Formats: sequence, C-alpha cells, structure tokens
Amino acid sequence: MAEKRKFQAIKGTRDLLPPETELWNRVEQTAREVFGTYGFGEIRPPIFEPTELFARSIGLETDVVSKEMYTFEDRDETSVSLRPEATASVCRAYIEHNMHALPQPVKLYYMGPMFRRERPQKGRYRQFYQIGAELLEALQQSQGGAKDIPKDAAIDAEVIEMVMAFFARLGLESVELDINSIGHNAQNCRPAYVAKLKAELEKVKDKLGPDSQRRMETNPLRVLDSKLESEQAIIATLPRITDHLCSDCAAQYAELKRQLGLRGVAYRENWRLVRGLDYYMRTTFEITAKGLGSQNAVCGGGRYDGLVELLGGPSTKGIGFAIGEDRLILSLQEAGKGAVAQGRDVYIAWMGEKTLATAIRAAQELRQAGLCVELPPVEQKFGKALAQADKLGARFALILGEDEVASGLWTVKTLADGTQKKMAAAEIVKFLKG
Ligand code: HAM
Repeated sequence: MAEKRKFQAIKGTRDLLPPETELWNRVEQTAREVFGTYGFGEIRPPIFEPTELFARSIGLETDVVSKEMYTFEDRDETSVSLRPEATASVCRAYIEHNMHALPQPVKLYYMGPMFRRERPQKGRYRQFYQIGAELLEALQQSQGGAKDIPKDAAIDAEVIEMVMAFFARLGLESVELDINSIGHNAQNCRPAYVAKLKAELEKVKDKLGPDSQRRMETNPLRVLDSKLESEQAIIATLPRITDHLCSDCAAQYAELKRQLGLRGVAYRENWRLVRGLDYYMRTTFEITAKGLGSQNAVCGGGRYDGLVELLGGPSTKGIGFAIGEDRLILSLQEAGKGAVAQGRDVYIAWMGEKTLATAIRAAQELRQAGLCVELPPVEQKFGKALAQADKLGARFALILGEDEVASGLWTVKTLADGTQKKMAAAEIVKFLKG
C-alpha cells in the first residue's frame, strides 16, 4: 500500500480561511468603491508573463529579478515567470491593447496574488496579495518638458490622496506617508548624483557591510535603504538627492508638496526613500503602518515615465502604487478594525417530518431576503437544535413544530436573551431584519 503522505501548503504560502476572508472581501470591495470614485477601472492581467518583461522593466540587478522570481521553462522552451508585481503587466497591456488611443489618462486598478521567493516572516510571504493602481498617459506632440510639471505633480498628488482616502475609509488611522524625489535619468540629475554618491561611498567602503559593498557597485542608491545599525551613522553623512535635483525635478517636487498640502494629505520627506525597482523617476512614496514589526511598508509607489516606451510602446507617462494586502489586513486586525460578522442570522429548529416542507420554504424565503440561514438536514431533538444554534452563533432560532405549522403562528427565539415570540409567518422577515 502506498505510504500516506500529509500535504501542507508550501513554505511562504497559506490558506486564507473564513471568517478572515470576509475581511479580505471587505477590503477589496472598499478599494473598488474608492478607486471607482476617482475614475479607475479594473484590469485583470495574467499571473504569468515572459520573464523578459519583468527583467526589462523591474531591472536585472534588482533583488526581485536577480533572486526572487519563480521562473520556469514552458513546453515551447520560452522562459516564463510568475508575476512578482503587476506594473510591468499593466504597461504591457496598455501597449498590446493600444490604450494610447483611448482618452488619456488611462486609469487602471488590479488586485491579486504576486510571487516573490523571499525569506518568509510576519508580513512577508512568497505568495502575497497586492491591490494596486496605475495611471498612464501617452504624450501628445505638444506635451512634455517643463510645462507639464504642474500637471504631473497634481496627478501624483491625486493618486497619493486616493490611497490615503482608501486607508481612511477602512478606518486605518495610524499610517504614515513618506515621499521623496529620486530625480530624472535623462536630464542627468540622477546620474550625476549617483556618481557623487558612489565616490563618497568609496571613501567609507571599509566600514560598510558586504551587502552595501555589493550594492555600491550594482545600484549605489540602494545603500540608502540599509537597515543595518552599524551603517546608519555613515549613511546620515552621505549626499542627499534632494540637494542635487535639476531645476525641473526640484520644481516638480516642490509642486507635489504644495499639491499634497492643498489636499490635506500629511507627509514626511524622506531622502533615503529610493525604492527597490528600477523603473522609478522623480516622485517616490511609501506608506508604513504601526504594529507590523520590520515589514511595516503597506504601500509603495512612484512615477515611471518612460517605462511603456522601454517596453516598445509610445512615449508615455505613468504613476502608480501597490498596497500589500496581507500587511494591510494584519494592521487592521492589530488596530482592532478587523472584526467580521460571524455566525448565522437564523437557525431553523424543525421537528416532525410534516414540518420539513414548511421549514424548507421558510429557509428559501429568508435567504432570498438576504439572511444567513442554517437548516439542519435531518430532524433534531429540541434541546440539541438549540445547542447547535448557540454553537454556530445564531442570533435567532425559528422554532417549527407541527402546532406552529397548523396554526400559522411561528415561534422566534432571540438567543441573546432567551425571549420568545409567536408571530405570523408573513411578519417574520421584517422582525428578523429589523
Ligand atoms: P513594492 O514596493 O515592491 O512595489 O511592493 C508594494 C507592496 O507590496 C509593499 O509595500 C508590501 O506591502 C507588499 N509586498 C511586497 N513584497 C511582499 C511580500 N513578500 N510579502 C508581503 N507583502 C509584500 C511594487 O510592487 C510596485 N509594482 C508598486 C508600483 C505600482 N509602483 C508603481 N506602480
């Protein structure tokens, strides 16, 4: 006989179970509602894409692409990967469906699982869920350059306002928004800054840990991300990008802050916020929540003008964000905002075979009225039925015996206080919903 094997969910993945899934649904429904009021529509991209799409957009040297992707060879020998994020897919879809021909900007949101082979811990999983949004705008001939700065900044601010409105709608108050500008590649402010940063890092190389020494060569900006205690004092002395922005980037950053102020969005400037994906330029932001320990970033995003072009599309601007839904759920629970309705509305305690037909019809009617009803499949003794109703957390028991069916007056028991009432069948829905 074959050995019995006990299967378990793969490390870093998990089952989401009721009643917690109620909370997930509530969060997702709230996102749909809030994003909808800002004119965003839902896109559902595939879960896997050509590996090259992620490599080109997120960047070969990033942790995500260099070591965290689930990549496999398809039967036709093409390399495909489970999506580690969705911005690349949304840009691919924008190009594939000629969305530049639609009225601009195009505003899309998505939600679903993402995959990264990270070391699992609280708030960090290998299959995790994001709720994200992207705003894309193909450039018309008259557009581009310095005159777009106020418009771009206003768009960035509105996207950030939307995330904050979403958190507020969920009742999550203890979130903090960090913003930064990481400059612009083309206008040479970032390359010049990175060169300067690298030169400064060379001088202190011996005092840095192996991770930062490696990053210094591959992506010096990421050294600023370091959480190593021993590196903090050194990092504090490094040149800051906000002091090295070109005039356009500086103007855009100043206008972003003014626009956030106009919208009543509180923020903290954080010159060390560089983000871990290569496609960003100018605006970057992150939102952290309390009670999550080291994995406290619940949302990250920024501007990525030029990414669509890099993927073979027309010249297009973009800004977006993704919320880590797992972490958002954790912080709602920590903040006491994770309660979900449990139990049943009504338990139908039916007794006597002749009452079954009435009990079935009652269950159908109550369910049609939107109530959650438990109808035991077989007859139970009165005491057992009430005990079961209690165990399931039912609010009411509808008691149906042969007397009740004959008289048309049914008994409703409120389980919280044990009170009982007889009423005509037609009044029951109103009473139970009232
Ligand atoms: P990201 O910062 O890599 O950005 O991820 C966004 C959020 O996803 C994080 O702040 C975190 O809450 C959550 N997250 C990331 N990895 C994990 C994990 N292993 N376990 C649990 N949660 C995780 C992006 O993905 C960009 N695509 C965001 C964006 C959209 N930028 C522009 N548009």
